[in-house]
Amino acid sequence: MLGNFCYANPTRLYFGEGSLKYLPEELAQYGENVLLVYGGGSIKKNGIYDQVLAALKASGKRVVEDAGVMPNPTVQKLYEGCEKVRQNHIDLILAVGGGSVCDYAKAVSVSAYCSEDPWEKYYLRMEDVDNEIVPVGCVLTMVGTGSEMNGGAVITNPDSKLKIGHVFGDDVFPKFSILDPVFTYTLPRHQMVAGFFDIMSHILEQYFSGTDDNTSDYIAEGLLRSLIHSSRIAAEDPQNYEARSNIMWIATWALNTLIAKGKSTDWMVHMIGQSIGAYTDATHGMTLSAVSMAYYRHILPYGLPKFYRYAVQVWGVDPQAKSEEQVAAEGLERMEAYMRQLGLVMDITALGVTEEMLDGIADGTFIMDGGYKVLDRDEVVAILKESM
Ligand code: NZQ
Ligand code: ZN
Repeated sequence: MLGNFCYANPTRLYFGEGSLKYLPEELAQYGENVLLVYGGGSIKKNGIYDQVLAALKASGKRVVEDAGVMPNPTVQKLYEGCEKVRQNHIDLILAVGGGSVCDYAKAVSVSAYCSEDPWEKYYLRMEDVDNEIVPVGCVLTMVGTGSEMNGGAVITNPDSKLKIGHVFGDDVFPKFSILDPVFTYTLPRHQMVAGFFDIMSHILEQYFSGTDDNTSDYIAEGLLRSLIHSSRIAAEDPQNYEARSNIMWIATWALNTLIAKGKSTDWMVHMIGQSIGAYTDATHGMTLSAVSMAYYRHILPYGLPKFYRYAVQVWGVDPQAKSEEQVAAEGLERMEAYMRQLGLVMDITALGVTEEMLDGIADGTFIMDGGYKVLDRDEVVAILKESM
């Protein structure tokens, strides 16, 4: 039965080619001090930086730059950003980049005026925000995380080897996000396909739970079918606007809280993937692809009817004259073939994981209880070994 819920999403989205033209309208709603947050320089090479800076200047903003946000942003970088916000009395944090830049901007927005150590308060103790929040806007350049329309902010502490996501409430969601699919054309292939799988994983984390008849699962199946279709086209023809724009839109809906409504959710692939990320600094989507097949084959017996449904509805497996187990297994085989065709990383050894790291990765994996099987530590180790 569909559980009770409250639903609202406060982020205003501007979607499509040329949608950066709406940035000045949004900027006009905030004070003059803008923190321009970006990553390692891709936006300077592809010209997005110049376009954003022109809009900021034309809007009369005083721009303070915060560059060098790394993939998997660190707690040390977070402290630097907080300092910049305080020193410059920042009125708006404008994130121009992928999930790392958007997540970082949100983490800074809640941490700058936090009276305690934000890592301890928000990430180790998972407490709510009770201080001033600096508004965030995003110009997205990499598709996958859904960070453009959610409250997620994942931060890595390389010293304690922990990568933790805090899902903040509505008041931390970006106030606006600008999504131009053309801005994603310059992504290296490795990042592009990692993003495709990140989207798939977000949907599956919310799909593989529950035994009820739930509208969210039908929406998830539709999103998955569209993703598989468009990603196959984009892998062959990366500048295909139709495919890239569909994928950008799917990514947003995959993790803007809608398809989790009325459901419990799993998230164990992400928990294992995040711990691998803390040890290897590997690309997020690839940490998920590398463990997914072992994980799903492990939990299949506990959620067999849903795996059967997944095989038939998403992968088009013909169930005639086959057992439920055979159909479910064939669905996962098709998923694996699709992943290999995209060129995803399919084992954790390729991400730099060694035998010696396995215990630490298992210890750093948070166990969630919303999926078909609550894993114990030995099962996490077994899944990791199976993924090597
Ligand atoms: O740093 P630059 O030079 O900009 O290069 C980036 C980076 O190296 C590059 N890139 C981005 N846009 C580009 C581009 N290169 C060329 N052209 C462009 N248009 O891509 C690289 C990866 O960027 P990053 O932002 O790290 O990727 P992604 O969007 O996958 O974000 C990953 C982070 O998001 C977190 C992950 O854990 C990870 O820390 N997540 C956030 C979530 C959320 N907010 O809900 C959920 C996700 O599951 C995920 O955990
Ligand atoms: Zn993800």
